[in-house]
Parts: sequence; C-alpha cells; structure tokens
Amino acid sequence: MARTALVTGGSRGIGAAISKALKAAGYSVAATYAGNDEAAATFTAETGIKTYKWNAADYEASKAGIAQVEQDLGPIDVVVANAGITRDAPFHKMTPEQWNEVVDTNLTGVFNTIHPIWPGLRERKFGRVVVISSINGQKGQFGQVNYAATKAGDLGIVKSLAQEGARFNITANAICPGYIGTDMVMAVPEKVRESIISQIPVGRLGEPEEIARCVAFLVSDDAGFITGSTITANGGQFFV
Ligand code: CAA
Repeated sequence: MARTALVTGGSRGIGAAISKALKAAGYSVAATYAGNDEAAATFTAETGIKTYKWNAADYEASKAGIAQVEQDLGPIDVVVANAGITRDAPFHKMTPEQWNEVVDTNLTGVFNTIHPIWPGLRERKFGRVVVISSINGQKGQFGQVNYAATKAGDLGIVKSLAQEGARFNITANAICPGYIGTDMVMAVPEKVRESIISQIPVGRLGEPEEIARCVAFLVSDDAGFITGSTITANGGQFFV
C-alpha cells in the first residue's frame, strides 16, 4: 500500500513542489494550508492532491486536522514540516508580535505538526520526518532575528528527534534551502533581492523542485542511514 505523507504549507511555493514530488514518487499526499483558499483550490484542481486547512501554530487544530487526514488517507508515515512565514524587520524595529508570530509558526508549528504523528510512527516502527529550515538559520540574516532563531531551532528539533527515533526506524532530517524563487523571496524589496542574488555563486535563485528532490530522497528507503543531518541547498551562498 502507498505510504501517506503530510506536507504543511503544501499548496504553495516549496511546499507545493514537495507535495507534487511525493505524489509522483507514489505517496498518498495531504497538503495543508493556513489561509489562501483560492490557491489551495487551484492546487487541488491541478494536481489531484487533497488540501486541508489549519493553522500550524495552533496545537489543537493541528491534532484535529492530522486525525482527519489519517481517517481519510490512513496512518501518516512521512511528515514534512514546511510551513513557515517571515515578518522581517531590523531588530530595533521588530515588535513582540513579529517575534511571536514567527516563533509560533516556524518553531512551535514544527512541534505541533510532528508531535501528534510521532506516537504512531513509534508504534509502527517506521517514519520519515523532514523539517524545512533555511540558510538563514545557519548564517543569520540582517532583518531576520526572529526567522533565523526559529530556523536554527528547527535544526535542534531534528537532531534530537533523530536520537529519539533511531530505535524505532524513524529518521529525522533538515533541509536548509537558500534563496528560492517563491512568493516569500519575491516579497523582499527588489534592490535587496538583486544584492542577495549577486552573493549566490551559481548566479540565480533556486527552484522549488530542487528542494523537493532533496525531500523525496530523504524520505525514501534508500536514505535509511541518514538521520539527524542537514542538507544544504543554497547555490554555494554559504558553506557550513
Ligand atoms: N546588511 C547591512 N546593512 C543593511 C542590510 C544588510 N543586509 N540591509 C539593510 N541595511 C542597512 C540599510 O542600508 C540602512 O542603512 P542606513 O540607515 O545607513 O541607510 C539600514 O540598514 C536600514 O535599512 P532599511 O531602511 O532598508 O530598513 P527597513 O526597516 O526599511 O527594512 C529589512 C529592513 C526589512 C530587513 C529589509 O532590508 C529586507 O527586507 N531585507 C531582506 C531580509 C531577507 O533577506 N529576508 C529573507 C526573506 S526570504 C526567506 O526568509 C526565505 C529563506 O529562508 C531564505
């Protein structure tokens, strides 16, 4: 039977590419989204991938949504915690709201997504967990104290889960994308974006599919010995 995969933030940007790649690899895929009904409806119409609406920042909503996915598609074997937001501002201008929104979605949201699924992975003695972190969790970024903190925190989650999951045949890994051509990056002021691209040795933004292919590999049976690791895919912008 096909394995079931959950992709949060899976109807747009990098998440949409991940959902499509996993479907193409034979998984039964559920993609979540928080707000954009129109994009989700279009995504489902174009791909046949079912979408579910809940806010990853809300634990009870995540738990209920995951229960619904499992009722519809069967037990979740693969979880890709991809949902993330930015609220960029230099630190002296950053508000507590900007800090909290980003922490609630990008860090607590990862807990909320994996925690309800984890007992089932342990019971069935198989699981693949992938968290989409960021280059900026590795190097920091002017204007992203909040975002960089959460993305660095995501690496701590993965390294710890890898240790707890190992004896249950559960792997946990992170991917740190560099700047990818999505709405999130296109929202950066053009002049700033041009200057960022000039710092990428391959001379271009990444493509969402280039991250999706990393996910497809990490969740495959071939990647069973890879756990607690970080795949860095950033066009050479930063070496860990
Ligand atoms: N390094 C050093 N100084 C910088 C700087 C940088 N990277 N960026 C801006 N500054 C300086 C400016 O030159 C300016 O200096 P002066 O006052 O002397 O002129 C000062 O800082 C203030 O800059 P701004 O007036 O531009 O400040 P602002 O409040 O209008 O906006 C900002 C600042 C929102 C951080 C804006 O610079 C920005 O959007 N930067 C991009 C941040 C970024 O890379 N975000 C990534 C989003 S995509 C993503 O997150 C996906 C992923 O995982 C990669």
